[in-house]
Amino acid sequence: MERYFGESTPKLGFGMMRLPKKLLKIDVEQTKQMVDRFLDAGLTYFDTAYVYVGSEEATRKALVERHPRDSFTLASKLNAWLGAFSEKGAKEQLYTSLKRAGVEYFDYYLLHALQNNNYQKYDEYGIWDYVREQKKAGLIRHWGFSFHGTPDLLDELLTKNPDAEFVQLQLNYADWEDPKVASRRCHEVARKHGKSIVVMEPVKGGALAKPPAEVQKILKDANPDASFASWAIRYAASLDGILTVLSGMSNIEQMEDNLSYMRDFQPLTDDERAVIRRAQEAIGKIAHIPCTACHYCTEGCPQGIPIPDIFAARNRQLVWGQLERGESDYAELAKEGNVADACIACGQCERACPQSIDIIARLQECAEHFKK
Ligand SMILES: NC(=O)c1ccc[n+]([C@@H]2O[C@H](COP(=O)([O-])OP(=O)(O)OC[C@H]3O[C@@H](n4cnc5c(N)ncnc54)[C@H](OP(=O)(O)O)[C@@H]3O)[C@@H](O)[C@H]2O)c1
Ligand code: SF4
Ligand code: SF4
Repeated sequence: MERYFGESTPKLGFGMMRLPKKLLKIDVEQTKQMVDRFLDAGLTYFDTAYVYVGSEEATRKALVERHPRDSFTLASKLNAWLGAFSEKGAKEQLYTSLKRAGVEYFDYYLLHALQNNNYQKYDEYGIWDYVREQKKAGLIRHWGFSFHGTPDLLDELLTKNPDAEFVQLQLNYADWEDPKVASRRCHEVARKHGKSIVVMEPVKGGALAKPPAEVQKILKDANPDASFASWAIRYAASLDGILTVLSGMSNIEQMEDNLSYMRDFQPLTDDERAVIRRAQEAIGKIAHIPCTACHYCTEGCPQGIPIPDIFAARNRQLVWGQLERGESDYAELAKEGNVADACIACGQCERACPQSIDIIARLQECAEHFKK
């Protein structure tokens, strides 16, 4: 395997976005216990961000004020499209983050959550050059960006910014071939550019800690003692070029579970990879709308209906049982414009769909379902 930046970094990172809560506030005492257990296990990578409410302050209290600065590495992020209303505001986030976290520098600093509809802000505000300058000034040791867009955009950004030292990607076994997330293709693009990868959402935000029943059976038959989350995290950590896998642990039990197999990480064996392939196949077979999010249908829709996004919201419910999340995704789409009930059955989309989906009928089902 080709050598890469950060390859000796322990493969489990502590994602500080979903810290334990008590009375709706971050439970700093439990966070302290989790931080101590994490460091005791020889793990070092912590990930926070300007926009994770209360996370940088909790990181200061639980980690920075209680442990030597050279015993851990800390990542934070600048968000130019959320929580910043001007170039000045975006750039000031770095100073605010340093102050909140109580550190003089960040080991890793990221342009946060670039997507196809927001990456332009980072160009407009000159953030790429800003992080280069701040690295020279010593406030940042390494910089990169986190990414939720298409593989083509990732390729374009890495071609334009070859000095980005790493990228943070959503990689998990369920999204590996997902047409929207495109984990596999994004991983390939990052590796083509020789980039190290920080993994986010390895447990698909919690969904793979309680996967569909068919998948649970496959995983339990293969190893009755392993947690479902352990399969997902070890899968991500076994990929080529991984700097670390961020797990958004929300309590001490999840921390203990993860330490039990990541303290001394062993990549998946060939047999275990075959088990994951069976789990992926099982997910693929669960009744869902077989939309590949190619968007061929949307351009000619006279009603401007976001067809693949509506199907993605419904698939969340059908495949993952995430009823509330499907509802809220659909509600967000409805705020932005027309949704399923605006279809006038002109048939344009069905003629364009390479998957031969009965789009009109499926939209009607979605309209009825989400109205309930
Ligand atoms: N840069 C970005 O754009 C971006 C975006 C997303 C995330 N991130 C970073 O990546 C980190 C990881 O992503 P994530 O938090 O979305 O997702 P994740 O690690 O895929 O999922 C974490 C959730 O999985 C559930 N879970 C159950 N058992 C677990 C176990 N043994 N270990 C870990 N989780 C278990 C928990 O949910 P319940 O407690 O509800 O069961 C937990 O909150 C974040 O914390 C954040 O630091 C960055
Ligand atoms: S049939 Fe409905 S969804 Fe399809 S193009 Fe016409 S209006 Fe849009
Ligand atoms: S053309 Fe078909 S597969 Fe492509 S996005 Fe539209 S509904 Fe999905």
